[in-house]
This record gives sequence, structure tokens and C-alpha cells, in this order.
Amino acid sequence: MSFMMGCFHLSAQSSLSIKAKALVGKMTLEEKAGLVVGMGMNIPGLGPDYAPQDPSWKGGKVPGAAGNTFPVPRLGIPSIVLSDGPAGVRIDSIRVGEPGKTFYATAWPVATLLASTWDTAAVRKMGVAFGSEIHELGIDVILAPALNIHRNPLGGRNFEYFSEDPVIAGNMTAALVNGIQSNGVGTSIKHFAANNEETDRNTMDGIISQRALREIYLKGFEIAVKKSQPWTVMSSYNLVNGTYTSQNYDLLTTILRKEWGFKGLVMTDWYSGSDPVAQMKAGNDLLMAGRASEKKAIIRAVKSGQLDEKVLDENATRILAIILKTPTYKHYAYSDKPNLRRDGEISKTVAEEGMVLLKNENRALPFTGKDKKIALFGIHAYDLIPGGTGSGAVNKAYTIPVSVGITDAGLTTDNKIQHAYESYVTEETSKRPKQSIFDEFSHPLPPISEYAPEDAIVKTAAGDDDAAIICIGKNAGEGRDRQVDNDFNLSDAEQQLIHSVAGAFHGQHKKVIVVLNIGGVIEVASWRDVPDAILLAWQPGLEGGHAIADLLVGKVNPSGKLATTFPLKYADVPSAANFPGKEFPDRPASQNFGIKMIPGEVTYAEGIYVGYRYYDTYHVAPAYEFGYGLSFTDFSFSKLKLSGSEFKGKITASFQVKNTGKVAGKEVAELYLSAPATVIDKPEKELKGFAKTHLLQPGQSQDITLVLTADDLASFQTQTSSWIADPGTYTISIGASSRDIKLKGHFSLDHSLIAEKDHPVLAPKLTFTEFTGK
Ligand code: BGC
Repeated sequence: MSFMMGCFHLSAQSSLSIKAKALVGKMTLEEKAGLVVGMGMNIPGLGPDYAPQDPSWKGGKVPGAAGNTFPVPRLGIPSIVLSDGPAGVRIDSIRVGEPGKTFYATAWPVATLLASTWDTAAVRKMGVAFGSEIHELGIDVILAPALNIHRNPLGGRNFEYFSEDPVIAGNMTAALVNGIQSNGVGTSIKHFAANNEETDRNTMDGIISQRALREIYLKGFEIAVKKSQPWTVMSSYNLVNGTYTSQNYDLLTTILRKEWGFKGLVMTDWYSGSDPVAQMKAGNDLLMAGRASEKKAIIRAVKSGQLDEKVLDENATRILAIILKTPTYKHYAYSDKPNLRRDGEISKTVAEEGMVLLKNENRALPFTGKDKKIALFGIHAYDLIPGGTGSGAVNKAYTIPVSVGITDAGLTTDNKIQHAYESYVTEETSKRPKQSIFDEFSHPLPPISEYAPEDAIVKTAAGDDDAAIICIGKNAGEGRDRQVDNDFNLSDAEQQLIHSVAGAFHGQHKKVIVVLNIGGVIEVASWRDVPDAILLAWQPGLEGGHAIADLLVGKVNPSGKLATTFPLKYADVPSAANFPGKEFPDRPASQNFGIKMIPGEVTYAEGIYVGYRYYDTYHVAPAYEFGYGLSFTDFSFSKLKLSGSEFKGKITASFQVKNTGKVAGKEVAELYLSAPATVIDKPEKELKGFAKTHLLQPGQSQDITLVLTADDLASFQTQTSSWIADPGTYTISIGASSRDIKLKGHFSLDHSLIAEKDHPVLAPKLTFTEFTGK
């Protein structure tokens, strides 16, 4: 069945390519060079280097969309619309000349939360709804999902990305892409590849071994391409081993197209790379957002023979093959009225699935009938952060804060505390200078610092109210990485707030719950003993407050698990000594959207030992491990059965998960593989499969089957550029987390096995010492 579908897909694609090729045959050189360059952006302050190819261009049909392609009206080729981003459609919510009308979209939970659902069906369902918003808002390609690896918790865009693990990242991306594209609109999976930090993002050169690239940084993209054929891929800003990714033929053509079979187009990230002609040659078909100088350089290069026109024809053909299947080409009469009510509900459900209960001492949660009046502390209890900043932000109609969620769930909140926070925030906000959007992006103001009401107020609340919630919020985004002080580590004000509220409420034998409204990992070890429970709500989208409240009152049982490790301290992070890397201030700097970019270099010395692969192999205890998350019920795992004791092409693992507790709930089952390290060094274990159960009633069980193939056993051997599985005994561990292994089984492989042979490309030009797992 899947083979038949594959054939249909390919033949539909190739008939579009034939039509596209015929159209390209009718185009002039000017038109082809126009088509491979986007129309540019109309942002005041961008400067002459960003001049669009057509100075009379006033912007496309959807104001606020990130980019548009070049139209050729005489051939019936329209300009298609590309819009951000990963957590929802990002367009202007109001338009000049259309008074009273709004153009809002749903702010979905951020990718880190989606990954924590461990539920590809839920993510696909969200993708279907997301895709219908894209379609109804007149957009052809959404610039999402983003799936770079959480190499380091300080990565500024980690909220846009899924996980430290490529199997999770790749499968979540595929689920989302399949859902979105089922609406007849496209995706652009990004940023290909190794865009794992924001510091000097346009000039940073990642020095990365071929093995780490293949197994960690490319793997998720490979899974996503093979399982979902996204219409487009966006290359990244950074360099890898000395070459801009957008100018790297081996990355974009040898690996992406020849090895993985990618059929769509590759576009650059906005104004990236240094050489448009090299980008064309590399197979980077579309230069976004597009500038006049790029078009001129391409025409010049064809005329001088530096660029073979056949290469340009291929780039243009791939762009046209996508344009031909877009809603804009098909004259789809979009409504500008996405189903926001339905999608808000879906956003809430997914948010509930991906929030992670980190701590629940003495079953402090869910609230009981006695917990009626709640004191809400923390500025973000009244001002939820639905998602991160930059191109990953969404213009939505509303955001439900925890205060409203709690009230809608039938509890009351302490007005005096609410008033204290509102006055504080109003006063602090009035002191801040107004900034243009451009300045906000390039030179953002620091966040308003946390506020702990005076002791007397807290004390009174502890007497009056039944329980306390402290909401700690952190935000980050494109353009800069996070800091260790006052960000990864809590600020003094945040620490003081937790301690003072806990002191007062515990003094009255009342519970204290911390809700973490964050996009990336923070330090928890120094304060986690203080509250009774900790709910990691991530940045949960516009319905976040309702989702949080439903979990707190037990209307929904938490079922999210971490897809990224919480270390005990920053210094434990394997890349801590190599993040964000070194800068070369004596080399010429450049600018990207007003941010200074100094040439830099970052050595990925940790190699494949990223996240739990490092903590487990090197025996470093984390605060909360990969795969961890609590529930209000208990589960048992049993009856592990492998299809055989020897590996013969594949191995099937079947087992049962049972709800042994008192309330309904869902459990995540994680399959880790430990391989013999005869020739190649191996992490202690690696995630190879996972499944989330249905909602299991108390006493109910579910059988789960997961399959391993040769690819899952193999590691990338650099000398031979092949994926090799060593002979010996393999251990399958089925866990409720990476450190809570419930079942184990073994099978053997009696000979060395070559799962795949790849091209020997992307080698680092510099030598460096890489972690070996010993
Ligand atoms: C970001 C991309 C985004 C693009 C268009 C770039 O600065 O890196 O992720 O899609 O802008 O807004």
C-alpha cells in the first residue's frame, strides 16, 4: 500500500516537473534569474544592501508574510506567498485600508512542547488544523517546522526546535508536515543544517565530525524527508566545516537529493550566504528574501559562462514545480477566516498532552475540593508567554493566562495579589521606551524583572488562601542566545519569590505549586526541593492558561515527557566549553537585520554525545532525565517478547502497558537500544522507537509493538562512510524514561552488517579531539 502511494506521489511530482521544464524553456534569462530570487522585504531600516529586485514591489497579497516569489504574468506564473512560522501563521493582524477587520491565527504550543507529547498522531492532527489556517489565510508555504537539535540549553531558538534527539525531532517533523501538507499547502523544514545557536548566526562556522553530522544533526532531516516529502527545505545561515550550508553542493544535492530522495526545492534562510552563484550551483534553488544584487550576479555569471544556464534552468524548474501545485496557482478563493474556535480547542488539547509534571510530592496535585482559593504569584501568572519571539512568534487574537484558566476551571484567585502584580507591571511598562519592531528585534529591552510582593502581603495571602501557584516565565528567540545568569539560572528575584511564598504557605501547611512557562531548559536543582509540585507548561500557545488549569485540577492527567534533558547545572552540559564558540573580531564583521555578526567558529567536540547520549554514557546525573514525566496514575510494563533471538533483517518488540492506578491516564513507552561497541564507540543507549498509549482507564492495558531494522542498529563509520552494525549482543530496554527502564530483552547479530553506504562528504578541514564515550 505505501509502495503504491509512493508511486503515485512520484508520478504526480514528475508530471509537474515536465510542465515546469516546458515553462522554463519559454522564459528569458532575466525572468529565470528573477524567479530564483525572492521579491525582497519592505522593512524600513534594512538598508541599501537589501534592495529588492523590483523597487516598485509593494508587498504580496498577504501583508506581514515573510516572503514572496517573482511572478511572470505573461506565462501565468503567480507570486506565491511564504510565511512564518513554526508555532503558527505569522502575518499582520490588521491591514491598511481594511478597517475593523482582523487577520489572526492560532498560536500553537511551541515545538519543545509538541515533542514532549511523544504523540505523533496528536501532532499530525494539529498539523491538519494548522494547514487549514495556512490555506485559508492565502499562504502557499509555511516556513516550518524547525528541527535543529537542542545541542545546548542556551540556544536562543530551542523553543522552535523539538529535542536533543533526532529520532524524536524527525518523527515529530514528519507528523506535522504530513498533517499540514494534507491541505494542499507546503512546508519548509528548517534550518538545514546544524543551526544550533544564534550568536553570530550568519558567520559562525560549525566544526563537526562527519559522524556527528550524520547521526545527530542530519538524521532528523533524513527521517522527515523520507517520511513526509516536505515541499521545500530551508538551508541555514551558518557554515559547516568551512562552507555556508546554502553553498554546499554535498549537503543540498549529494545528501539531500541523491541519498535521501528529496524532490522539492531548497530555499535560503532570509538574506544568507555570501555568493548567489555558488548557491545556485549547490542546488539552493531559491534565494530569499531576495535582493537586486543577487539577480544581477546570476545574470552576469550566466553571460560570462561562470554559471551554466542548465544549472539555473534546473533551479527554476524545481521552483516552478512547487508553484504549480500551490493554492495561489490554482486560484484558491481563501476565506481569511480560519476556524479559530476549533483550532483553539485543538491547541489546548495538544498543550495538555505535552506539559510535563516534574514533581508531585505527596500527590500535591491535582488540587482537591479543599483547594478553592488560590494565590497566584509571578508576573507571568497574569501574562502567559504563549511562544517565543522573532519569526517564531504569532499574531493571535488572545492569550489565556493562568489567572483566567484557574477562574474558568471554577476556582477563585486572590484579588489582592493580582492587583499587586498588575500595578507593578503597569508601572514598569510605563518606564520602558517605545521601540520599533526592527529595534525590538535587533536591540530588545531586557524583560521586566520578577516581583515578590512584600512579606506582609504574602503572609496575609497564606492565611486567606488555600494554596499558592508561582508562575516562572522565560522567553527567548531568534537573533541571540540565552545567558547562564538570570536566565538559565533563576534570577535572585525569582529565587526570593519561590522561597518567600513557600515559607509563608508551608508555615500554614498549604501547598505551593510552581508552573514553568519557559521555552527552553533552566536550572532546577537549587530550588526544586522547595515547592510541593512543579508543572512544566513550556510555552503552550494561546489556550495555555486553560490547559494548565485543567491539569492542575485533574480534569486532564499529565502525560508529557521530556524530550530534552534538564541538567543539574550548566557546567554539566557536554557542549558547555564549546558554546557559543570563539569570535574573530579582527576579521570583517557583517550585519543581519541590524545585528552585528562577527566571524566565529564553534567546535562540536562532544561529537555524538549530545543530551542523554552524553549523560548516560559518561555517568553524569541529570536533574530530570530525557524521557521523564510523572502522571496522577501508575503504570506497569510487562510481557516483553522479541520476535527472535537473532537479528534477521528486523526485530519486533511487543509488550504490554497497564494502568495500575486509580485514575485514567496515558503512558509513553520508550525503546532504547544498547549496541555492542566492538569496532565503533557507542552511546550507552539510544532511543529507537516510542509510542504513547490511548487513554487507559484504571486496570486497562494496551499491547504495543515496535520494530527495529538494520538502520537502527548501525552507526556511521567515517573511514568507510558506511552505516555499520557490529556483531554481538544487543539490548532492548523499554522504559518510562531513559533512566526508568522497566523491561529488557536481548538479541544477537552474528556478523558485521553494512546497513548503507553513503558518500564521503562534509569532512571537517580542521582536526580536533572528539569525545569517544570513554
Ligand atoms: C529566520 C527564519 C525565518 C525567516 C523569515 C529568518 O531570520 O531565521 O527562520 O523563516 O527569517 O522570516
